[in-house]
Amino acid sequence: METLADGVPSTKIPFNRPHTTGDEFGYIQEAIDNLHLSGNGPFTELCSQWLAQQLGSPRALLTFSCSSALEMAMLVADVGPGDEVIVPSYTFPTTAGAVALRGAVPVFVDIRPDTLNLDERLIEEAITPRTRAIVPVHYAGVACDMDAIRVLAERHALAVIEDAAQGISAAYRDAPLGAIGDLGCLSFHETKNLTCGEGGALLVNRPEWIERAEILQEKGTNRSQFLRGQVDKYTWVDLGSSFLTSEINAAFLWAQIQHSAEILERRMAIWSAYHERFAALERDGLLRRPTIPAGRTHNAHMYYLLLPTRAERDRFIERLGAQRIEAHFHYIPLHSSTAGRRFGRAPLELPVSEDTSDTLVRLPLFLGMTPADVERVCVAVEDAMAPARVPSRPPLCTGRQAFKRAPRSRARQ
Ligand SMILES: Cc1ncc(COP(=O)(O)O)c(C=O)c1O
Repeated sequence: METLADGVPSTKIPFNRPHTTGDEFGYIQEAIDNLHLSGNGPFTELCSQWLAQQLGSPRALLTFSCSSALEMAMLVADVGPGDEVIVPSYTFPTTAGAVALRGAVPVFVDIRPDTLNLDERLIEEAITPRTRAIVPVHYAGVACDMDAIRVLAERHALAVIEDAAQGISAAYRDAPLGAIGDLGCLSFHETKNLTCGEGGALLVNRPEWIERAEILQEKGTNRSQFLRGQVDKYTWVDLGSSFLTSEINAAFLWAQIQHSAEILERRMAIWSAYHERFAALERDGLLRRPTIPAGRTHNAHMYYLLLPTRAERDRFIERLGAQRIEAHFHYIPLHSSTAGRRFGRAPLELPVSEDTSDTLVRLPLFLGMTPADVERVCVAVEDAMAPARVPSRPPLCTGRQAFKRAPRSRARQ
C-alpha cells in the first residue's frame, strides 16, 4: 500500500461510493431505443412488477425519491390540516416534512436504545383524537416491532406508513419491509443498497387505495385508467403531482435489481466482517455494535457503532479521518431542528434520540470495498479505541443513560 510521508495510506476510503453492475448502460440504451423516456414505460413496469412480486405488495409505484413516495403516502392516507402523525425524531427530515407539507403536525416520539427504531412502548401516550397515522422508520434496514405497531394502529384506527427508505431486502418475521403497513416507501438514492441515483417507490398494500395512488402519481389525472382503456379520455380528477421517475432511471434501477442477490451478499460480507471484529471492543464495554433482535432479517445497509460520549465519538471520527477513512455521524433529532420546532410537536422527552445523535458513527460500507479496505478500517477502529483500553480509565459513559440501559447486543452475524 502506498503511503504518504507520515505513513498514512495515500488512498482515501470514502464513506460511500455508488456502485454500478455493468448492465446499466445497456438498459439505458434500450430505453432510448424504445423511444419512451418519460415515466411509466416498459422499464418502470419491469421494476414495479418485480418489487410487487418480490415484496408481496399488490402495487408498487416508482417515484423519483423516497421523499416523494412519503408525500404521496400522506395524500393517499388522506392526512390533512389539523391531523397528527407519529414519527420518530431520529430520522431523515422528509419523514416529518411529508407530514408538514400536508398542513399536518409530525408528533415526535423517542427511539429504542437497542434498534434505534421508533419505541413502540411510547407511541400510545402520544396518540390524540387528531392522530391519523404512525410512520415506523426501519433504521439501518432493521425492522421496527411491527406486531406491536399494528396492534396499536388497529386499536386507534390509524394508518401505518412504513418509511423503508433503508429497508429493501430486509424483513420482519419473513415479511419484507415496506409491504407490512398500509403503505411503504422505499429509496433508491445513491447511498442505498439498490440505486438509480435518485429514486424511490410507494408500495400500496391496501388494494382499495391503488386507483387513487395511481391518479396522484400521474399528476392528479386518470391517465393510467385511460392507458388501460378503462376511460376514453383522461382529465384532472384529484390532487396529485408528477411523482413519476423517468424510464432512464428505471432502466438503471432494473440493472441493479437483476444483481440484487449478489449486492446483498457482498454487503453482508462486509457488515459481518465488521461485526465479528468489533465484538471484543463491545465485550470490553468500549462501544456498542448494532442489535438485530430475533425475527428480523437485516440487509447490511449500514454499519454503525455507538461510543460512550459525544467527545469520544467526535475524536473517533477525527482519528479515522487522520487515517484517510471517512466516517460520519447521522441524524440531528428532528424535534430539536429549526423546522421540527416550527412544524412539529414533542409531547414526551426524547433522551435516546439525543444520545444516539451524539454518540453514533457510521463506517464506510460500499460494494467496491476490498478485503484490504475492510481490514484497514478495522485496524483504524481498534487503534482509535486503543487509549480507551488504559486500565485506569473509569467504566464507560457514566452519564449516558441510554448507553448504560441498553441490553448487551444479541446481534446475529
Ligand atoms: C429514513 C429515511 N427516510 C427518507 C429518506 C429520503 O430518501 P430519498 O433521498 O430517496 O428521498 C431517507 C434518505 O436517506 C432516509 O434515510
